[in-house]
Amino acid sequence: MSMDDLKRQAAARAVEQVRDGMKLGLGTGSTAKHFVELLGERVQAGLKVIGVPTSEATRADAERCGVPLTTLEEVDRLDLTVDGADEIDPNLELIKGGGGALLREKIVAAASDRMIVIADESKWVKTLGRFPLPIEVVPFGLGATRRAIEAAFAENSVSGQMDIRKAKDGHAFVTDGGHWIVDARLGQIPDSARLAVSLNSIPGVVEHGLFIGLARTAVLAGPEGIRVVERPSRRN
Ligand code: A5P
Repeated sequence: MSMDDLKRQAAARAVEQVRDGMKLGLGTGSTAKHFVELLGERVQAGLKVIGVPTSEATRADAERCGVPLTTLEEVDRLDLTVDGADEIDPNLELIKGGGGALLREKIVAAASDRMIVIADESKWVKTLGRFPLPIEVVPFGLGATRRAIEAAFAENSVSGQMDIRKAKDGHAFVTDGGHWIVDARLGQIPDSARLAVSLNSIPGVVEHGLFIGLARTAVLAGPEGIRVVERPSRRN
């Protein structure tokens, strides 16, 4: 079974949680794209839902699949967000942003009563940090912002190379919000919740890819089948 088959299986399990009338957050990435496509099939069959996309790419996918869309101006709260992740730890803390949509993804997840993260088993890790941590930054004053990020890393006993993410054309990758992304190769993040707070306090950092206390359920598809993990209660 291919990795893509596993991603689709995880997405299919999450689609089972969608009920008529739900307001949904629609994630970004190859796994979330499967969810949008499968949701579209249910919409064609009569399911009534409305979605908020977390990127322009997902907006295009949802429109193609016939999923009706709205915005967080038009609706107050969302019932459920379904999104992928780059890493998931046993507390269901996540690294996201490999696709560059972390800012909208976090806004949408935070506006949702529940977040289900869908992934293939390769995303499950004991400790976050093997995947480079995406940090969305304002291009202005980037030198100062980088120095502040380095100081935050030192306070949190982590270190590693930081690279400005490049697009295919070799220029800086620009997010849907018009910002840049710095990818930090930290290896291990011993206290991701504390690092998240430190990064949030830096002017010039718009957002970062640590999702703390947002995902409530993980649906992980592996060769042996699907595993559903709930967030441990101390984080509820
Ligand atoms: C997008 O910005 C990311 O947060 C994605 O959710 C994450 O990179 C997972 O993507 P895949 O489902 O493509 O692995």
